[in-house]
Amino acid sequence: MESIGVLMPIPMNSYLEGELEKRFNLFKLWTVPHKAQFLKENADSVRAVIGNSSSGADADLIDALPKLEIVASFSVGIDKVDLKKCKEKGIRVTNTPDVLTEDVADLAIGLMLAVLRRLCESDRFVRSGKWKMGDYKLTTKFTGKTVGIIGLGRIGQAIATRAEAFNCPISYHSRSQKADVKHKYYPTVVELAANCDILVVACPLTEETRHIINREVIDALGPKGVLINIGRGPHVDESELVSALVEGRLGGAGLDVYQNEPEVPEELFGLENVVLLPHVGSATVETRTAMADLVIGNLEAHFLKKPLLTPVV
Ligand code: DGY
Repeated sequence: MESIGVLMPIPMNSYLEGELEKRFNLFKLWTVPHKAQFLKENADSVRAVIGNSSSGADADLIDALPKLEIVASFSVGIDKVDLKKCKEKGIRVTNTPDVLTEDVADLAIGLMLAVLRRLCESDRFVRSGKWKMGDYKLTTKFTGKTVGIIGLGRIGQAIATRAEAFNCPISYHSRSQKADVKHKYYPTVVELAANCDILVVACPLTEETRHIINREVIDALGPKGVLINIGRGPHVDESELVSALVEGRLGGAGLDVYQNEPEVPEELFGLENVVLLPHVGSATVETRTAMADLVIGNLEAHFLKKPLLTPVV
């Protein structure tokens, strides 16, 4: 294959970077101090952009790269890519579905257990030496709790399968009721929240699902309810979530994603009923390697004029 210019705007994964370096002419924007200068000098050489959950291809970047043919995202979520613009310009877009489903679903269950059984707080209790001075707190049983899932796609269904193994009744909300699914369907998120113990966000981020978790939903979930977010930060009205947790109007939260990552609202740091993770849903060696292989596979397929492995556009 001829040497093709690929732009990776931020560091993502060393295996991916190494493979890209072997096979393409890799531009690493994070080593370049002046983005504008880089684009002025190299824009014509860039035929592919690598995106992920925090850096994609917005309209400005797409317009700045006249030879751009493909955006290959190192993530399943493609909310950072301007899909409309890509469609208009005939730019292909790929993502990394399926290979991360199990890890993200495992992490959702991990967060449920961590919040209800206070795993992180208990760990801090032991490390601080407080066990010798007093007793631990009782926690909340997970088995049998009703789990409400927003978005019953691949990840939502994998969460449901795992939660069922804990005898948790499953209910869900999605754009429409699924004919082949036995779980209870609620046409609104508020109704789902009012009828479950643990509410999990597992849908893609779109204009329709931005702030799908708002004050009304949080109040419906209530002081015993737990919110788990393994989707995207902007699914949640974060200031409403913070106030509800601080005021005790929500029982707890397990968060892997935030509105302005890596910024996390400081008010959450002092709360024991909250578990905070740094967006690590797919962050296992096995899965990140499989995701990187899909990115490379999609780029090679595109430039060898073969069918894309996982096309979005
Ligand atoms: C995804 O793939 O969208 C995940 O959020 C990345 O970890």
